[in-house]
Amino acid sequence: MQDFDAIVIGAGAAGLFCAGVAGQRGLRVLLLDHSEKVAEKIRISGGGRANFTNRDIDPRAPHKHFLSENPNFCRSALSRYTPADFIALVQKYGIGFHEKHKGQLFCDRSAEDLIALLLAECEAGGVQRWQPCGVKTLRVGIDGSYQIDTERGTVSSRAVVVATGGLSIPKIGATDFGYRMAKQFGLRIVEPRPGLVPLTFDGDAWAPYTDLAGLALPVLIETGDKKSRISFAEDLLFTHRGLSGPAVLQISSYWREGTPIRINLAPEVDLPQALARAKATSRKLIANELATLVPSRLADAWVAQDKDWQRPISEASDKALARLAERLARWELVPTGSEGYKKAEVTLGGVDTRDLSSQTMESKQPGLYFIGEVVDVTGWLGGYNFQWAWASAHACGMAL
Ligand code: FDA
Repeated sequence: MQDFDAIVIGAGAAGLFCAGVAGQRGLRVLLLDHSEKVAEKIRISGGGRANFTNRDIDPRAPHKHFLSENPNFCRSALSRYTPADFIALVQKYGIGFHEKHKGQLFCDRSAEDLIALLLAECEAGGVQRWQPCGVKTLRVGIDGSYQIDTERGTVSSRAVVVATGGLSIPKIGATDFGYRMAKQFGLRIVEPRPGLVPLTFDGDAWAPYTDLAGLALPVLIETGDKKSRISFAEDLLFTHRGLSGPAVLQISSYWREGTPIRINLAPEVDLPQALARAKATSRKLIANELATLVPSRLADAWVAQDKDWQRPISEASDKALARLAERLARWELVPTGSEGYKKAEVTLGGVDTRDLSSQTMESKQPGLYFIGEVVDVTGWLGGYNFQWAWASAHACGMAL
């Protein structure tokens, strides 16, 4: 039976990085993945260019852009391995990158450059990688070391790192392996659910908006009650089944079933004032005036909803115009659901951080570690999830 100092299960963002860090500290590391290829999610991320970190992470409050039942848990790892640390590594490999929007950093050429970096780091640490290699069972021997039955035989190690990610995009290899391992060793799980995911609406209720599919516009979106209210100023995208785009992906992580979301479709315009001015000076149809303030497809779909809005603006009542302004600025709607794991960029919830050390990512089960998305730490859209993968992997890799 081959013996290692650490066995890392899952060769995604967190697993690859952790294996490289540990290997370069002189540990004998085995990295296993049931998929043929490494890091499929990095490959498809950021439209193929991987939004690999975010410069806006606040060094004094790095947890601000993350969701968790235990919001302070991620603080330690994120402040010990920062975006600047990862950027320095990217620069060391001569990978070109650029900032796109709100601190989001993308590779200039391809996400493949990032994968090559992670593989080179593993190589530099002498990491053995077995792929494809499924894991059948994991057990603890009498001496406290682990034995893993894999498709390539049984291996042993004093430490096991679970880096198998969340449930999103099952068709590229996502499984519930990490949650099963946690349960096997009596660790708690925060109920997983899809995050950063498009929201869907009931067919009939959505009928007035289906023609808007493909339309994108900047909005202000919010959800939650007085105590939990959160909002994002981002682009919204209409789809055939509902809403998507960065605004909706961000809010979806905070949205709870049965509760409404509220959208200001013209956040940069003072609608009551603009409509009142148009009423005083124009004889055009409301739809035409509105089309100077919001995209014309939206203006048409909006006025179609009320007979009082289908007339020249000079003939509209003040009440009708006020209602129009209010409905555009405070469009409240209750999603029926989301597109689920097949479209979600991340999985919220996961291994309960109360059962993990924020310093090392070791669980209450000695020698068993959890890193990356399998843990109940989920970032906003914009490179935060990769930064959590790097930071948690680094904390663990340095502690093994
Ligand atoms: P990850 O999912 O990367 O890796 C898990 C690995 O474990 C996989 O290689 C899998 O094959 C393996 N595995 C699973 N089950 C196994 C089993 N039973 N046995 C053995 N191996 C197993 N984030 C970001 O910050 N910027 C971005 O631009 C994007 N873009 C993006 C686009 C899309 C379409 C998605 C789906 C996701 C993103 N993300 C993102 C999120 C980001 O990809 C994600 O948070 C990280 O990849 C998580 O890294 P992990 O290493 O934890 O899991």
